[in-house]
Parts: sequence; C-alpha cells; structure tokens
Amino acid sequence: MKEKIQELKQKFNTELDAVKDTKALEDLRLVFFSKKGLISDLMKELGKVPNEQKKEFGQLINGLKKELNDKFDEKKLELVKLEEESEINATEAYDESMPTRCACGSYHPITLVQRDLEDIFKSMGFDVEDYNEIVDDYHCFEALNIPKFHPARDMQDTYYLSTPNQLLKSHTSAAQNAIMRKYGDALKKQKRPIKAVFPGRCFRNEAIDACHENTFFQMEGIMIDEDISISNLIYFMKTMLSEVFERDVTVRLRPGFFPFVEPGFELDIQCLICGGDGCPSCKNSGWLELCPCGMIHPNVLKYGGINTEEEPDKYTGFAFGLGLTRLAMMKFGIKDIRVLNEFDLNSLSQFVSK
Ligand code: DAH
Repeated sequence: MKEKIQELKQKFNTELDAVKDTKALEDLRLVFFSKKGLISDLMKELGKVPNEQKKEFGQLINGLKKELNDKFDEKKLELVKLEEESEINATEAYDESMPTRCACGSYHPITLVQRDLEDIFKSMGFDVEDYNEIVDDYHCFEALNIPKFHPARDMQDTYYLSTPNQLLKSHTSAAQNAIMRKYGDALKKQKRPIKAVFPGRCFRNEAIDACHENTFFQMEGIMIDEDISISNLIYFMKTMLSEVFERDVTVRLRPGFFPFVEPGFELDIQCLICGGDGCPSCKNSGWLELCPCGMIHPNVLKYGGINTEEEPDKYTGFAFGLGLTRLAMMKFGIKDIRVLNEFDLNSLSQFVSK
C-alpha cells in the first residue's frame, strides 16, 4: 500500500510538471481527483487492508490527498495568471487616433429643465426639497384626500412592492404631507410662509407609447400662509412661467378635478408658437395645457398638521404640479417621450449641456 501511495505521488508530480495550460490541468484533475479517479481507487483499496493497518493507511492517503490538492491549486493559480497576461498582450493596443464611435456625455434634458426651474424657484424664495421614490399608501393617496377605493386612484395605478403598503410614488404630490410637517413649525412660530418645490421621479402603470411612459418626472410646488388666495396663485403662476419661457406668457384657468385641491384648475398658456391664433402645436386651439393646480383642500392642510379643529381656516395655500418631462419635451422639441428613458447617448447628446 505504501508503495502504491508513493507511486501515485510520483505519477502526479511528473504529470503536473508536464501540464502547460488550464485545459490540460482540468484533464489531470479528472484523472486524479474525480469520483472514478486514481485517488478514489486508492481509497477503495483501503477496504482490503487488515483492520489494524486501516488507520495508518487512511492517514497516509488523506495526507497524500491534501498534498496533491495543494500542488494542484498552486499550479492552477500560476496558469490562470499566465493565460490572463498573454490574453492582455494579445489584445490590440489602444489607438488614440481612432475616431470615437459614441457621442460625448451631456446632461439629460430633464436635468437641464429641472435645474433651470430650481434656479427660478430659489430666486422667488422657495426651498427645493428631495423626496423618496418608494412611499406608502397614506402619503401617496390618503393624506391627499384620496381615500381607499376612491375612483381617482384609477388614474394613478402604480407599482406595488411585495412589502405591504409600499409603492412607487405616482405623483410628486405624495411629498406634500411630509413638507407640511417639516415646515409647519416655522410657519406657526416664526410666521415664515411655506414655499417649497419638490422635483422627482414618478411611476405609473401605463401602456407605453410616444406620449406615455411608466417613469416620468414632475415638479410639485406648494405655498402656504395666512390669506393666500386664488389671485396669488394666478399671479405667481404667470410670473413663474414667464421666467421659464423667458417671455411674457398669458395664462387661463379651467376647472379641473383633483381631490387634494378645492377649487382645482387646469392651467393653460397661450400657445407660444402661434400667439393664440391656432397652429398644429396647439391643435388649433391657441392654448397649451401646462400645469394642474389649485387651492389646497382643507383636509390636506389638516392631515399635514397645518390647520387644527379649533382654527380650520387659519392657513390657506396653493399647490401645482408641473410635468418636468412634458416641459423638457416642449423646450427641446422632443416628439417621442421614449427617447428620454432610452439613454441613447447619440440622441441625448443633441441637447446642449451646461
Ligand atoms: N398630482 C397630480 C397628478 O400627477 C397633478 C396635480 C394636480 C398636482 C393639481 C397639484 C395640483 O399640486 O394642485 O396628476
């Protein structure tokens, strides 16, 4: 038995020395270490030796196994390294003079529009807030006066996580409650109006086409103080949009239903292309639908801790939801919304980066 062990060791060493690549090493592994390999055969022979010698030979075989395994691993490391090096050397050297095939990176059109808007809002004294993409049912719907099973939820079907009660926010309005809670104290104690915008990614269960995406961006804004009225809302929206489009814009309000505002409006701007006469861009109506808005519903102010049962009308405010994706499409003349989520550098790099 001892001789057999010795012979096997020598055979292994000689064959291992002759191995020149990982393929040959794998063949060697099969010969020695596989279930039907030489080491297994040796183990089988252990059954035939007299009982009193079994322990000694068992230990010898195990020692041999370990020794051969270690040598095998060492050789494997060495060969893999050599092969990697030769692969690297074989690859073509980097050629600086080759023309680039892909376009240079640039800011995404939505980032550009978002930054412009943030600057405009900051100059008007607004705080810019960040908010989660995963929210709970309360913040996305109930705190916005959209109770469970309310039909308004149908318009905002979104993606639900397997964690109970967690979903991807379907609109930036989902942040309203958190913002009211964050700034409520400053409003009451320091008489500092709440003026905040919160841009963010939103999700909806949509059938995707040139005008609909399941992932898009909005920017929500709220302003709350004592005596905020619809006149403030109109004046503010007109000033803000004139800044956005860098010229005087004419706005009009139409009634619109959103459970979290009362009254609620659809705000249109007079078409910037035809000046209101009617053209294909405004579908000959002279107006472009731009931004839903309204006076924040008393329930929403109550849920946000702004008004109390004792003084339910003390504070009032307005809210608006700008479609950032829509604005970017208008600003850059993008006709198909899908371009914005495809991340094709060649398409996206057409937009000037700042
Ligand atoms: N959250 C609404 C949506 O995504 C848009 C909206 C409507 C926001 C009216 C508002 C608002 O703040 O006042 O459909």
